[in-house]
Amino acid sequence: MTHTAKVVLITGASSGIGAAAARRLAADGHRVFLGARRTDRLEELAGRIASEGGTADFRRLDVTDADDVRAFVAAATERWGRVDVMVNNAGVMPLSPLAALKVDEWERMIDVNVRGVLHGVAAALPVMRRQGGGHFVNIASVGAYEVVPTAAVYCATKFAVRALSEGLRQESAGDIRVSVVSPGVTESELADSISDPRAREDMKTYRSVAVPASAIADAIAFAVSRPAGVDVNEIVVRPAASAQ
Ligand SMILES: NC(=O)c1ccc[n+]([C@@H]2O[C@H](COP(=O)([O-])OP(=O)(O)OC[C@H]3O[C@@H](n4cnc5c(N)ncnc54)[C@H](OP(=O)(O)O)[C@@H]3O)[C@@H](O)[C@H]2O)c1
Repeated sequence: MTHTAKVVLITGASSGIGAAAARRLAADGHRVFLGARRTDRLEELAGRIASEGGTADFRRLDVTDADDVRAFVAAATERWGRVDVMVNNAGVMPLSPLAALKVDEWERMIDVNVRGVLHGVAAALPVMRRQGGGHFVNIASVGAYEVVPTAAVYCATKFAVRALSEGLRQESAGDIRVSVVSPGVTESELADSISDPRAREDMKTYRSVAVPASAIADAIAFAVSRPAGVDVNEIVVRPAASAQ
């Protein structure tokens, strides 16, 4: 392990970008603590990281539950003594037109994508403050910059992630770094949660140019790797072939 090795917590590490970030950050020598609801996936990933020479542990996590996120951060702190980086990555994207009135899905996006990030801040910020520093990497989206039909609520949640991150950055200048990483279309399981048939069909064309999740993991690893005095605030990564 190098002298820059950090303790990195990743929410939503059971698939897609979170899983790719876990492998990449572990390969960089960091200790990764993985959270999601599908613990079979986390166990398999932690085993794979260990077999590749990395250090990983995991705990079941539902980011919609503030107490659970606090317990997740407490478990990592107990295990490795500190929390250097909190990657608030867990997210859902059940797209649909507003007129479809899928109110439950709107609420789920707000619960996971917005409340989940806030719960991550509430749990990790006091630990970072106590230890004299830390770094939040919040995963937003190109949907944090522009709105398209069927994505109004999803985009609203991602605009919120950027707003919260910017507020946190301003209020924490000096000891806490805050990075927003915004992927364009990326290979993952994200579109599986779309129940609206039209939005699901549209996504097939839109997602045909996806970049691998490792491309976003590279951006996260770049932000994490900067020296303590350098705060990479925003990174947008799109497929070269993507207009949106
Ligand atoms: N892929 C893209 O094109 C794209 C583009 C822009 C932004 N993003 C953002 O990237 C992030 C990662 O998504 P992904 O693309 O990698 O999709 P993904 O493969 O579906 O991964 C989403 C992760 O979030 C976790 N999750 C969902 N609800 C959760 C909850 N209540 N508590 C804890 N974990 C929860 C899932 O794990 P469990 O189901 O096991 O809990 C899974 O590990 C999301 O914030 C997404 O909005 C993705």
